[in-house]
Amino acid sequence: MEPNHPQQQPTVFVLFGAGGDLSWRLILPALFNLYLDKYLPEQWLLIGVDRQDYDQHSLAQHYREGIQQYSRRGIPDDKTWQSFSQALRYQQADITDPTSYTQLAKALVEQDKTWHGKAERVFYLATPPFLFADIAKGLGEANLAKARQRARIVVEKPLGHDLESFRGINQALNHYFQESQIYRIDHFLGKETVQNILALRFANPIFEPIWNRRYIDHIAITVAETLGVEHRANYYEGAGALRDMVQNHLLQLLCLVAMEPPVVFDAHDLRDRRMDVMHAIRPISAEEVQRYAARGQYGAGWMNGTQVPAYREEKGVAPDSNTETYCALEFHVDNWRWQGVPFYLRTGKRLPVEASEISIRFQDIPHQAFPTSAGLNAQPAQLVIRLQPEEGIVLKFMAKQPGPHLVLRPVEMRFSYQEAFQATSPTAYETLLWDIMKGDATLFTRADQVEAAWRLLMPILEVWEANPATDFPNYRAGTWGPEAAEVLIAHSGRSWLAPTLPEPKGGAPGKSTHHPRSA
Ligand code: BG6
Repeated sequence: MEPNHPQQQPTVFVLFGAGGDLSWRLILPALFNLYLDKYLPEQWLLIGVDRQDYDQHSLAQHYREGIQQYSRRGIPDDKTWQSFSQALRYQQADITDPTSYTQLAKALVEQDKTWHGKAERVFYLATPPFLFADIAKGLGEANLAKARQRARIVVEKPLGHDLESFRGINQALNHYFQESQIYRIDHFLGKETVQNILALRFANPIFEPIWNRRYIDHIAITVAETLGVEHRANYYEGAGALRDMVQNHLLQLLCLVAMEPPVVFDAHDLRDRRMDVMHAIRPISAEEVQRYAARGQYGAGWMNGTQVPAYREEKGVAPDSNTETYCALEFHVDNWRWQGVPFYLRTGKRLPVEASEISIRFQDIPHQAFPTSAGLNAQPAQLVIRLQPEEGIVLKFMAKQPGPHLVLRPVEMRFSYQEAFQATSPTAYETLLWDIMKGDATLFTRADQVEAAWRLLMPILEVWEANPATDFPNYRAGTWGPEAAEVLIAHSGRSWLAPTLPEPKGGAPGKSTHHPRSA
């Protein structure tokens, strides 16, 4: 982000669901940080829309508390807050009532008059998805979608519960808005480190020659969370890990790591290349679900010295819930680059560490020239893209241990974004909100990609739904998931790669980390 934006157009940011949690915890803190960094246009206004009983002042006060709690910088001083909050307005409205939209349209026209120009209009739907169709209709019928260049609608997951419901949502949006006006958020794409996958691959010529089936044995994508379901049982019970994480975030990561180089770095080309990967992923049929997909649900256990309850004992969760809190999958990408290279994906809640990373495991050496006494065991080179925490890149390879004997040891070369750039990264929402206001759709998902992801996962969802798990809970909180995930990867004679833990204070050269299960 370059901190000047004289080219940025006056913008009205209409926030539906202005009183909700997403607005409070993520959107306003991000907008406020953009304001502090001078990324908001000079002429900028937020109109919060909700049915709740706020007014301009109480909404601002509510946001102030959220920002204080969730912004990476808090609120620096009263004067700054005053100048930011004067751009906040509130419209109490029933979003199923057409007059709400005529009222909104009037306010927008008035604003254009005040600014002597035509402002960009962002309609952000921070509401439950069942309201998306009503809002799109309300905006459309009030003629607020017609200005194709300056009206944008923003939606966020869950974009449907399955393929059919996604199509329903999409049809409702498409009825009034063109695809170029629709911004579908997958917040992983806004993470700095996720975008850096592209920088690593396409700004450095050294990786491309080895980024293929000739040198890579397999790729493992792990998103491990220590948190449980928290206060989200209401949503999560109907979702589960496959819908919540794989349908969007993990498949996006797979696309970024597997895609072909774009010709130009723009929304059209990058989204086409990601879509090419989706096309190439081999579908898993209902008969193959058992072999290529594993599910789990956490039981009670210990996390960092604290006893935590089982998923089925969490507030709002059914005592016989069949919802998976863990899943592991094996995918194959049927194209020239990746034929024969498995992509293993796993994600779960209540795992032992917080770790999101992509491990590219290179092939074994073709010939073992070192004597057995050198101790060259199964430690082929591995490139790890660490997404969080402690974002960075780690290259693991073999080196000779100093000394008179020929002894080989695995070592690590680490690159840390924090150390290299000495700056805190903007949050994913800051990046994405700024892109929406600029009208740059590169980091947003196109309908065809979301649809392809649903199509891919439908057989798994259907098989799992038709056959409730008989072994849930099947992993203890604080462990690395169910036995079934080990079996899944063991089919090909492999095992899950140990997540790369943060470097211990003072560093520990040559110290490899071990997967607690496989250690
Ligand atoms: C969300 C999921 O999309 O991503 C959550 O709904 C998950 O269940 C979260 O915890 C993880 O995102 P982040 O940015 O905290 O890694």
